[in-house]
This record gives sequence, C-alpha cells and structure tokens, in this order.
Amino acid sequence: MSVIEAIPKPGRVYIETYGCQMNEYDSGIVSSLMKGASFETVSSPEESDVIFLNTCAIRENAHAKIYGRLQSLGYLKKRNPSLVIGVLGCMAQNLGDDLFHQELPLDLVVGPDNYRSLPELIDRIRSGAQSVSLTRLSKIETYDEIEPRVVNGVQAFLTIMRGCNNFCTFCVVPYTRGRERSRDPQSIVRETQDLVSQGVKQLTLLGQNVNSYKHQDEDFAALVRLLLEETEIERIRFTSPHPKDFPTHLLQLMSEQPRFSPNIHLPLQSGNTEVLSNMKRNYSKEEFLEVVERIRSFVPEVGLTTDIIVGFPGETEAQFEDTLDTVRRVGFDMAFMFKYSEREGTMAQRKLKDDVPEEVKGERLTRLVDLQTAISLERNQSKIGRVYPILVENTSKKSKVELCGRTPCGRMVVFPAEGELDEFSLLSKIGSTVQVQIESATSATLKGRIVS
Ligand code: 5AD
Ligand code: SF4
Repeated sequence: MSVIEAIPKPGRVYIETYGCQMNEYDSGIVSSLMKGASFETVSSPEESDVIFLNTCAIRENAHAKIYGRLQSLGYLKKRNPSLVIGVLGCMAQNLGDDLFHQELPLDLVVGPDNYRSLPELIDRIRSGAQSVSLTRLSKIETYDEIEPRVVNGVQAFLTIMRGCNNFCTFCVVPYTRGRERSRDPQSIVRETQDLVSQGVKQLTLLGQNVNSYKHQDEDFAALVRLLLEETEIERIRFTSPHPKDFPTHLLQLMSEQPRFSPNIHLPLQSGNTEVLSNMKRNYSKEEFLEVVERIRSFVPEVGLTTDIIVGFPGETEAQFEDTLDTVRRVGFDMAFMFKYSEREGTMAQRKLKDDVPEEVKGERLTRLVDLQTAISLERNQSKIGRVYPILVENTSKKSKVELCGRTPCGRMVVFPAEGELDEFSLLSKIGSTVQVQIESATSATLKGRIVS
C-alpha cells in the first residue's frame, strides 16, 4: 500500500471563534496545527486564504449567528474563488453534511476531534474536491502534545478533559464533544510550566465536565495538587463542573490553598426536583442546596455562580417558582440565564414537547434576571469596605487610567492606577497583585482603590 503525504500549499488562515472558552482554546490548537503545516494565522478575513468559523451549538441563536456570518463572507469567496471557508466546532459536529445543503459559501465541515486532518483536507479542496466533511468523534483525542498558540496576558485557559458522559436531556454537548477523556497529568504540568514562563499568573482549567477529570488513579483534586506542587502558577480556577463531583478532599484543598481560587461555577439548571429529573441532572432541589451548604462550610468565602434554564418542556408556574426559591436560598454571586432552546438529537427533543410558549419563557426569564440582579447587587455591596488581593489582569475597558482584576472569589474589580499613568507604566502593572479596598458596587462590578 502506498501512502501519499498531502503537502498543503502554505497560506494565511483566519479563525473566528464563537461560544465557550473551550472553543477559544481549540482555536489556539487549530492555529498551532496550521502553523505546523506552514500556515500563518492572520487577524482579518480579507487577507486570508482560509477562513475557519469555530462554532457553538448550545442554543438555537448560536446556529443563527453562523448562518448570518457565512452569508456575509460570500463576497470574499466571489472575489477569490480559491478561498477555502470551513465551519469547525460543535455546529459542524451537530449538523455535519446538512450544512452543505443551504447554499452557503462553504467548503469544509470539521468536528472538534478532527482538527489534525485540517491541512490535509484543505489540500483535498485545493486539488478540486468539493464539500469535504469530517465529523468522526474519538474516544481518545485530547490534543495532548499540541500547545495552543494563544497567551492572552496574565490569564490563560488550559483544557484538561474533553467530552461529557452525563447526557442531560436538553444538552447537545455529549453529541458534539463525545465521551469523557482526560489528558495525561504530566502533559498538563508541562503546558502550565510553559505558560508560567510566558508570564501567565492565572490559569483556568477547562473541561465540559472538568471535575470528572480522571487519569488512571488521579482525580481532579490530585491534578490540582500536582499543579500547585510542580509549577509556580499563582492562581488556579476551573470551569465547568457538575454538582455531583465535589468530594470533601477537593473542598479541603480549596480551603487550604490560597492559590486555588475559592470560586465555583455550579450549574443549577432548574430548582425543581421534577424538572431536574426530566433534565436527568441526578440531583434534587434539596441535594443541590446540601452541596451548596457543604461547599460553604468548607470554603466560607467561596464565590458561587451558576447556569439556569427557564421554560424546559412541561415546566409549570409552580415549578418555575421553585427555581426562584432555590435562587433566593443559595444567593449566587452571578448567573447565566437562558430560555430553553430545543437541540437536534437530544433526548428532550426526541421525547418531550417544547410546550412552554415563547412569551412565557420570556416572562420567566425577565423575572429570574430581575431577582438575580438584585441578589448580585446585594452580595457585591456586602463586600464594601473589605480588602482583597487583586491580580491585575488589564486596564479597564472604560477608562485608560483604571486597572481591573478579580477577587479570589471571582468578582471583577475596577480601581484607579497609582503612580505614573503613561501607557507603559500602566501595562507594566499587569500581572502584579495589589491590595484593593472595595468602595462601591453595582450588580456587575466592584469599584475600589489600592491600599498599601
Ligand atoms: N437550551 C437552553 N440552554 C441550554 N444550555 C445548554 N443546553 C441548553 C438548551 N438546549 C445552557 C445550560 C448550560 C449552559 C452552558 O448552556 O445552562 O449549563
Ligand atoms: Fe451538557 Fe453539562 Fe449536562 Fe454534560 S453535564 S450534558 S455538558 S449540561
């Protein structure tokens, strides 16, 4: 058998990323893989030979955005017929070849486990193939030895596991990202050391089910301990966990290790036990409240954030009010709140009728957002007067002479810089840790000033 190596013509690739932080990370992987095939990553579609949209499929509007964007890129394809346009990520995995049936300027559809094949697939298109797709899910692909080409100042993301085995009935992720598989801890240590040597101080460990990390006998807590011992990373955070995986030793580690940020994103999804059962979340309202209580008993200063869906099939007014009640009882610092959106291939789509009218979903979402905004404000205001160590992440978006960074519990704080205020002096403060006293708060942000 003869194997013909595909040698792609070098070129310029432009990557646009949608959706979650895992996609941001994956775009870095794609950029690295493309560089290995002599493609340079550029920052505008106009100057590129290959355009990738790295997409999301989590809710309907994620799809709608991509259709619109592809249509708007059509003029580049008319100008340059050899331009290759590809859809990557979850929408590619979810819709596969169907994407080609919609008269879009599109050559390539590649799912999240097939990025190593990208240079070869581009070569096939350049050799005359049309509508090339590859959406095979893998039980082993972790991109273990490929380091993404994105270091964004002092904060970086690092994927430690991929996929999800939970099959919540509303969620497309197990179908677009496949089964859970965890990276080798030593490769994670190496990547962290590399990031630290590039100036990264704060690392966010990523996974669709991050605390289900398991590599041979090492669990998530063991991995965090290893990173704390073997690297000089200053702060470790993580997202997104499932409420079922918070063993005592993980909470103990968080309470003992100041470098392990007391900041937990704990997706509630619904506060009603029957809806939770229909969602296949494997906990009741009471069990969720118990997890929160246990977390707070170990880590009293913990920052808690969440995800909530309103209008899941069959959700009654009384069941929705149970969600409001749970939200009141927990007192999350912040929440991402969504209207249920039916996703192709999920159990809910196959078995349950999307029967909550759109206006009811909208009305429930407004009530929930109003409640959470009041709670966020109250929780933020309770921090007025407190002093926190803030890792300076950037200059503030609104003012060139203000800096911003997070409290260990994850809240964003904006504060005036001190000393020289020229651009160079301000940028040189990024990455340092300063003590900031909180002086005022809105529901979204804390404001403070540096104290010695
Ligand atoms: N409809 C609405 N929201 C969803 N999410 C996931 N799937 C759906 C869906 N079909 C939300 C969940 C999840 C977050 C990332 O997106 O709250 O935690
Ligand atoms: Fe989706 Fe998260 Fe449930 Fe997995 S645990 S199916 S990623 S909502």
